[in-house]
Amino acid sequence: MERVNVAIIYYSATGNLHALAQAVAEGAEKAGAEVRVRKVAETATAEAINARPEWAQHVRETADVPEAGHDDLVWADAVLFGSPTRFGNPTSQLRAFIESTGPLWFQGKLADKVYSAFTASNTAHGGQESTLLALGNTFYHWGGIIVPPGYTDPIQFQAGNPYGTSHVAGTGRPSDVTLQAARFQGQRVVDTAAALKAGRAAAA
Ligand SMILES: Cc1cc2nc3c(=O)[nH]c(=O)nc-3n(C[C@H](O)[C@H](O)[C@H](O)COP(=O)(O)O)c2cc1C
Repeated sequence: MERVNVAIIYYSATGNLHALAQAVAEGAEKAGAEVRVRKVAETATAEAINARPEWAQHVRETADVPEAGHDDLVWADAVLFGSPTRFGNPTSQLRAFIESTGPLWFQGKLADKVYSAFTASNTAHGGQESTLLALGNTFYHWGGIIVPPGYTDPIQFQAGNPYGTSHVAGTGRPSDVTLQAARFQGQRVVDTAAALKAGRAAAA
């Protein structure tokens, strides 16, 4: 059986989404996938970044993370997108990447893949679900197969968000429960993508 290719494409200003992306990658790798973790290009000015030391520090610390490209989407059988909540929506940085994919969409190259999403917000009711659902709008347009975690593992009854892993950044870095939920989400996406890949190969 061919391995499942998973792209984890995220934006993070101050490190929380980066930590979630790494945990999702751990879960996907443990489930047997080939994984690419990619950050989207920064669009904020150096002035804006440098005005917040924690943002500037995170940019320095993740300088070695490769930037997402269209080839990552084409390569992937499954894609997990991670974005902080910004006024209840995904960040403009992630949207800028998504909105650059028109030519791929037009050629049908984004269809039939598995998609899933994860997020963080500063407060518990600060828009995590609306951010995940907003990303889902795009997956529908792409003809994707949306795989949420639901309550399909005991960790989800502790983590509590069936739409996708989410973290309340105002409480500090992601807790062990949240990181476990992120690993589970990565694993579930791989398991589903593997079943689809095997089924399609058998039907071909
Ligand atoms: C412009 C802006 C808008 C934001 N909007 C929200 C929001 O609507 N709700 C919320 O709880 N947090 C909001 N936040 C906080 C971010 O969601 C939080 O800093 C982020 O999830 C941390 O992730 P990161 O460390 O990966 O950057 C906002 C932050 C910025 C800069």
